[in-house]
Amino acid sequence: MAEDIVAREKFASRLGFILISAGCAIGLGNIWRFPYITGEYGGAAFVIMYLVFLVILGLPVMVMEFSVGRASQRSTATAFNILQPSGKWNWFGWVTVLGCLILMMFYTTVCGWFLNYVVKMATGTFNGLDPDGVANVFGTMMGSPSELIAWMLFVVILGFLVCSLGLQKGVERITKFMMVCLLILLVVLVVRAVTLPGAEAGLEFYLMPDFGALFAGDNPAAQWGHFGEAVYAAMGQAFFTLSLGIGSMEIFGSYIDKDRSITGESLRICGLDTFVALMAGLIIFPACLAFGVSPDAGPSLVFITLPSVFEQMPLGQLWGSLFFLFMSFAALSTVIAVFEMLLAWSMDKWGLSRRQVVIRTAVLVAVLSVPCALGFNVWSGFQIPGIGDIQGIEDFIVSNNLLPLGSLIFVLFCTRKAGWGWDNFLAEADAGKGAKFPAVILPWVKWGIPLLIIAIFIMGYAPKFALWFGLA
Ligand code: ALA
Repeated sequence: MAEDIVAREKFASRLGFILISAGCAIGLGNIWRFPYITGEYGGAAFVIMYLVFLVILGLPVMVMEFSVGRASQRSTATAFNILQPSGKWNWFGWVTVLGCLILMMFYTTVCGWFLNYVVKMATGTFNGLDPDGVANVFGTMMGSPSELIAWMLFVVILGFLVCSLGLQKGVERITKFMMVCLLILLVVLVVRAVTLPGAEAGLEFYLMPDFGALFAGDNPAAQWGHFGEAVYAAMGQAFFTLSLGIGSMEIFGSYIDKDRSITGESLRICGLDTFVALMAGLIIFPACLAFGVSPDAGPSLVFITLPSVFEQMPLGQLWGSLFFLFMSFAALSTVIAVFEMLLAWSMDKWGLSRRQVVIRTAVLVAVLSVPCALGFNVWSGFQIPGIGDIQGIEDFIVSNNLLPLGSLIFVLFCTRKAGWGWDNFLAEADAGKGAKFPAVILPWVKWGIPLLIIAIFIMGYAPKFALWFGLA
C-alpha cells in the first residue's frame, strides 16, 4: 500500500499541534469575514448566534475530524478506506481535497492583499489621504492584474517554501513563531483600540445585543428573510472559521499520538480561534465608531475603512502597519496549514515524498489562483446573480456548500454503522488525558446536527432560487 512507503512525520510538541491547528482555523474568517458580517447583521445579537453554532456544531465536528485523522494516521486521501475498508467512503477524500483547493483559489489572492497593505502602510502610501484617496489606492490595486498576481505568487511561493522544509522544521517552527507574534500584536492593538476617546460606541455596538437588528427590514417578509440570512451566515461562519469539513483539520490529527483526549485539545483550539475573532472585533468596532465611521461597509471594511481610521489616529502609520502584519500572519498560517494538507494528501495517495509533490502542487495552486485575481479586473464581467464575482463564487462553493456538507459527511461517517461507527469514534476521541466527549449527546450528533445543517442549507438557498427563478 502507498501509505506504508513513506514514514509518517509527527509534531515535535503538543504546543505545536495546538498552535498549528489554531493557525489553520485563525485566518481571514476571524479578522476579515467575522467583523464585516457582524457589522452587516447588527453586532452583538449576531455574535451570540455565531457562538451558539460554534458550540453545538463546530466543536463536535472538529472532534470528529481530528479523531478520523488520529485513528487512521493518514490524510483524507486514504483515512476513510483505512477506517472503513468497504471502500464506500473513498470518494469523499476527493471532495475534501477539492474543497481545500477551491479555498486556496481565492485565499492566496486575499492573503496577498494583506501583505501588500503591510508594505503600503509602512511606506506611507496612505499618509494624508481622505477616505476617497484610500478607496482609490484599493481600487488601483484591484484593477491591476499584475499587482494582484504578483502578490498571489509571492504567497504561494512563501507558503510552499515553508512546507518544503518539512512538518517540524517548516510548518511547525514557522507557524508557532507567527502565532506567538499574532497573539502579542492582538493584545497591543486591542489595548490601543479600546482606549481611544469615543471607543464606547463601538463597544456598545459589539457587546450589547439588539435582537431587533437581526430582523431589519420594512415588512415581515423582509424581516424574516433577513433573519434567515443571518442564521445561515452564522452557521457558515462557524464552519469557515474552524476550517471544518474539508480535511484540513483532519491532517493535523494524523500527526499526533494518544496522550491527550481529542475533545480537550479541540476545546483549546476552538477557544483560541474564538478569542482571536472576538478580539478582532474589539479592535475594529471601537476604532471605526471612535472616528465616526460606519462598521457595516462589508468586505471593504478592512481595506478602505480601516486605513482611513488609522490615518486619523496619532501614530496611525505604526498601528496600521502592525494591524496588517497581524492580518497577514493570520492568513498565512491558514495558507501554510492548507498547503500542508494538499501535500500530505498527495503523499498518502500516491506514496510520494514531500520533495516530489511540492513543486507540482505549488504550480497547480498558482495556476488555479489566477482566475480569482483576474475576476477583479479583466474578468469582472463574470458574475452569478445572488452570488457575485469569481472570488464570491469560489467562496460560495466552499463556505456555503463544501464546508457544511463535508461536515455532514464526517458526522455520518462517525455515527453510522455503515461508516466508522459511533463506538469507534468515541473510543478514539476519548483516548488520552483530558475532557471526554459527552456520549449522552449521541441523538443530537446523529440526528440533530445533520437535520440542522440540511435545514439551514435549504434556508440559505431559498432566496437564491427565488432570485434565479424570478420569484423574489
Ligand atoms: N479557518 C480559516 C479562516 O478562518 C479558513 O480563515
